[in-house]
Amino acid sequence: MADEYLNFIGGKWVPGSAGEQFESRNPADSDDLVGLVALGTAEDVDRAVAAAGDAYPDWLATPAPKRADYVLRVGLLLEQRKEELSRLMTREMGKTLRETRADIQEAIDFCFYMAGEGRRFFGNTMPSELANKFSMTVRHPIGVVGLITPWNFPVAIPMWKIAPAVVSGCTSVFKPAADTSVLATIIVQLFDEVGLPPGVLNIVNGHGSEVGAALVEHPGVRGISFTGSLEVGRWINERCARDMKRCSMELGSKNCLIVMPDADMDLAVEASAWGAFATAGQRCTATSRLVVHEGVKEPFTERLVDRVRAMKPGNGLDESVELAPLINERQKETVLSYIEVGKGEGAVVLTGGEELIGPEFDRGNFVAATVFDEMTPDMRIAQEEIFGPVTGIMRVADIDQAIAYANSTSYGLSCSIYTHDITNVFKAVQQLEFGVIYANAPTIGAEVQLPFGGFKNTGNGHREAGPQALDEFTEWKAVSVDFSGKVQKAQGIE
Ligand code: UN1
Repeated sequence: MADEYLNFIGGKWVPGSAGEQFESRNPADSDDLVGLVALGTAEDVDRAVAAAGDAYPDWLATPAPKRADYVLRVGLLLEQRKEELSRLMTREMGKTLRETRADIQEAIDFCFYMAGEGRRFFGNTMPSELANKFSMTVRHPIGVVGLITPWNFPVAIPMWKIAPAVVSGCTSVFKPAADTSVLATIIVQLFDEVGLPPGVLNIVNGHGSEVGAALVEHPGVRGISFTGSLEVGRWINERCARDMKRCSMELGSKNCLIVMPDADMDLAVEASAWGAFATAGQRCTATSRLVVHEGVKEPFTERLVDRVRAMKPGNGLDESVELAPLINERQKETVLSYIEVGKGEGAVVLTGGEELIGPEFDRGNFVAATVFDEMTPDMRIAQEEIFGPVTGIMRVADIDQAIAYANSTSYGLSCSIYTHDITNVFKAVQQLEFGVIYANAPTIGAEVQLPFGGFKNTGNGHREAGPQALDEFTEWKAVSVDFSGKVQKAQGIE
């Protein structure tokens, strides 16, 4: 019998109000049932929001360094359980062990980083124009928040939201992607284990259409932090706008790696293969476009195809595997249909382009690592996020065309340039419309102390991680204290 996972509401582990459960299965092997999870309902959301509301006044009154201690201790527990949870994550989400270890490590790093922010929690002081009057800004939590997370980083991305919410003094209802509910529930178990007061963090597992929608629409929720698709993000953004709710969106992208003629070809090839095919391309930061200077396009393409053909697909628990399965059947079908779209548009498949079949693949959702050549910016495969192991090469004549091609989508998360020419690096830094820019580093692998988020359809201007993470969960109060003993009037009024 598989392990059972409950919802956590007001400090109690409870089944779904309808008494139902859903399954979490291994994307590499559908025979492997990873867990049975309580199916949440709109009624559960009501209860969880009420519990978060009840917990809020005391949590607000708890000093930020004390709130941050819980986050620190969760980081320490994650460190102890890193290997066990990485293995479980590979079973539940599919990506390879080296990547699930990195996912947990990213969460640990962020816990430690955010724990420090609890002791800073900086505001500013500024002078008043009036004598004997002191002015400053202080942060204030926005209240009860909803945290809605995707399945591709089952621990790191939830932690990007939970840790700053906890440190900021918000109380939360967490709704993870159904596909990775087991790991999500374990994160909440860790916060329970370190003694986080009841109601500060609640989890309601289930489907976006019921649980997620109820959370977004709930009048008791003051803010939503969402990572997921543009389509769902648009709906949430519109709903939140109507109710004046804070909402932060981290949506899709169409990331790009530029290869200039002076690039170190070994590094550019390795970074492209890693950026495009790690997590089977299921990252917001995945390298789904390669913009290559015509002077080196031929050797680059040849070497990339050789490297990609050498990638071993399979179950991520096998340490020699480089290409993981897709999260579910639906995602596999979407990716395969995009491959057909690309062929129909005239792009040429250099390697891959099909589902993987055979005894080791038939119980999983495997698509071969696919490289298209002759991609052009107007193609759908160059414009739309595929979220799978597919990348395409576009030929350019110079740096200006490379930057124009990179900027030619409606998204703008991550972009990298391979060159040793400092002029081209700074030109790219200045002109690229992306929130995360790398020179001579892959498009994936952002570090937690830097702000993370993108331009255009990738988001709505907010940033996660870095010191900016606190801005998602706090309001600014402008505070002035007049100790002059007079009624002083600003703007020169006598
Ligand atoms: C995502 O795919 O939504 O930069 C996040 C990276 C990771 C985070 C990706 N640190 O690839």
